[in-house]
Amino acid sequence: MTRILPSLLAALMCWTTNAASEAPIPPQRQAEIIYLLKHDCGSCHGMRLEGGLGPALTPDRFQLWSTQVLALTILTGRPGTPMPPWRPFLSEREALWLAGQLKQGIRP
Ligand code: HEC
Repeated sequence: MTRILPSLLAALMCWTTNAASEAPIPPQRQAEIIYLLKHDCGSCHGMRLEGGLGPALTPDRFQLWSTQVLALTILTGRPGTPMPPWRPFLSEREALWLAGQLKQGIRP
């Protein structure tokens, strides 16, 4: 693990730099992602994201999380738990945008 960690970090940094340089998410797509947040994430994390089967997705809980780590958690899920990977439904750029919204405290 210690030997592959540097290359993993390098890949992650490269990924976030590329993602950040792309254009912003169009408003129509933002609305679709908020809809997904309410209906899909909300089914496990609570309609108001205050917790359910999964923990609350409120900004107080993510203060110490970087946007990148939060986006990566959303994209890959948590293997071995009910938290599914959202990579089929969200691009990396969209996951970064959603992570930023969660850190700011979005209410779907
Ligand atoms: C089928 C149920 C389910 C759905 C749907 C779901 N999650 Fe989760 N999620 C979980 C569970 C359960 C955990 C806790 C996993 C664990 O034990 O580490 C979790 C963990 C997380 C975490 C890590 C939180 C922490 O404090 O460790 C984030 C972030 C997250 N989910 C975001 C999302 C987002 C965003 C969506 C929608 C795109 C979503 N989840 C949809 C069940 C779900």
